[in-house]
Amino acid sequence: LRVAILISGSGSNMVALAQSMQGDHPARPCLVLANDPAAGGLRKAEDMGIATAAVDHRPFGGDRAAFEDALLRPLMDAHPDLIALAGFMRVLTPEFVARFEGRMLNIHPSLLPKYRGLNTHARAIAAGDTVAGCTVHEVTPALDDGPILGQARVPVLQGDTAESLAARVLPMEHRLYPAVLRRVAMGERGLLTLTDGMVGSA
Ligand code: GRF
Repeated sequence: LRVAILISGSGSNMVALAQSMQGDHPARPCLVLANDPAAGGLRKAEDMGIATAAVDHRPFGGDRAAFEDALLRPLMDAHPDLIALAGFMRVLTPEFVARFEGRMLNIHPSLLPKYRGLNTHARAIAAGDTVAGCTVHEVTPALDDGPILGQARVPVLQGDTAESLAARVLPMEHRLYPAVLRRVAMGERGLLTLTDGMVGSA
């Protein structure tokens, strides 16, 4: 299976996914595609021998459709079977998502359905939550709303800041996303849940 990974920044989730596909795995990364030519993840992908491309979204202004048409070109040239959004910070139109319905995954740094959108860790702390985490879901036209494929939980500790909580969640993202990708690539379904130190499937 060919997996295209879309990034916007450092690409730490992309690295975790790419590393997980090395060796005995039914999937391989076929492209790392960024919406910013300066995305740090592009260099990391090159160092791992993965094809890369970048389409800067800024020249397109608010014309999402035009940006997405430009994004489709390198994406379709890579003939992906699956698309993994990994720290990809652009909202995709329903038309773009519809092209990949059922074949596009995303990781979101909250326990969906709580805290769709941005600033998830600050919002969890402000709400006084004692548990936080991340979610891998199928991408559907509504933002951060598709069927949940996996979740990982971490405790929210006294005195946590958005940064300290993010630092606790991010390593769990790097465990959850590869585990869910492997199951999807194997054609398995079912919700995968991780808690600190444990792997269990409900
Ligand atoms: C992080 O905030 C992560 O929680 C979210 O996207 C951001 C960047 O991730 N998934 P990455 O390091 O670019 O994968």
